[in-house]
Amino acid sequence: MTDRVLVTGSYGQIGTELILRLRGIYGTSNVIATDITPAPEIIESGGPARYLDVTDPRQVTALVVENKITHIFHLAAILSGNGELNPQKCWDVNMNGLYNILETARTWKVKQVITPSSIAAFGPDTPKEHTPIDTILRPTTMYGITKVAGELLNEYYNQKYGVDARSLRFPGIVSHETEPGGGTTDYAVDMYVKAVEGAPYACFVTENTTLPFLYMPDALDALLELAEVEESRLIHRTFNITGFSASAADIAGAVKARIPDFQCTFEPDFRQIIAESWPRSIDDRDAREEWGWKPSFDLNTMSDDMIAKLRGKIGG
Ligand SMILES: NC(=O)c1ccc[n+]([C@@H]2O[C@H](COP(=O)([O-])OP(=O)(O)OC[C@H]3O[C@@H](n4cnc5c(N)ncnc54)[C@H](O)[C@@H]3O)[C@@H](O)[C@H]2O)c1
Repeated sequence: MTDRVLVTGSYGQIGTELILRLRGIYGTSNVIATDITPAPEIIESGGPARYLDVTDPRQVTALVVENKITHIFHLAAILSGNGELNPQKCWDVNMNGLYNILETARTWKVKQVITPSSIAAFGPDTPKEHTPIDTILRPTTMYGITKVAGELLNEYYNQKYGVDARSLRFPGIVSHETEPGGGTTDYAVDMYVKAVEGAPYACFVTENTTLPFLYMPDALDALLELAEVEESRLIHRTFNITGFSASAADIAGAVKARIPDFQCTFEPDFRQIIAESWPRSIDDRDAREEWGWKPSFDLNTMSDDMIAKLRGKIGG
């Protein structure tokens, strides 16, 4: 049977780029892009793009059944910053959306469901350096709460019903193709964009705020490698992964080293408390051991690539 892939939340920061990669792997007509917003031109012109609100179980089931879906990348979510502005919506989309996806996968025997989790699953009581995979999970944001509950729900559907549910705790993802969707690490992307536009930037966390990051090509590789690995090799269902750790000043410095006119000030807002509740660095040895995870980009190679790509897009 041909693999038929559904992606939810396809027009967000990760989905837009993942759809293009998946179309190259599975064939354009076998990848169904879905979201609740209008499809960007690059997605709509290249293959199937449908409306799907993941909070509606009937829509989820109909789409999976009609399209004979075998694999799901479930990306639809409300992220940390936006989640704190509307916690009720964050719970609804993140929890009911995942429940609808897993229930449909169970009922219709979808082969695999991949759902990103986040470093937001950790909280202020979690060890901050080289945070291990199995540790204290007591987040203080609604987004983090939905990520912990989502990890457990994935594991429950795996253990009880045999659904091949897998998850990755992404750190802050940096990319140039699509604007980030309201997370706490969006400042990293904003710095590059503003610098290439020739504009100053007021960063919403303090200079010394240090968090783990991953460049988008590595994030896409991680999703695709995790999807490919033989199920028998997996000890865990949820994995820590990271690219590199950097403070806000480190990132501003890397931008300034390449665009010397860049002006960055630091004006923390409500997201500072969220950032401080997350780990500074991540231990991802289980992903490395169980499925060979290895990132390609560090802060310097990412900065070179980001600026080159943004210059091609924005000019400057
Ligand atoms: N970007 C990051 O830095 C980061 C870090 C850690 C984890 N993640 C996780 O990765 C996944 C994708 O994140 P992203 O950065 O692409 O997010 P994003 O906010 O850019 O995109 C999410 C998409 O979900 C869609 N959506 C919202 N409500 C929906 C609904 N009811 N039904 C269907 N679609 C809906 C939005 O329209 C949006 O296009 C999420 O699970 C997120 O928690 C992202």
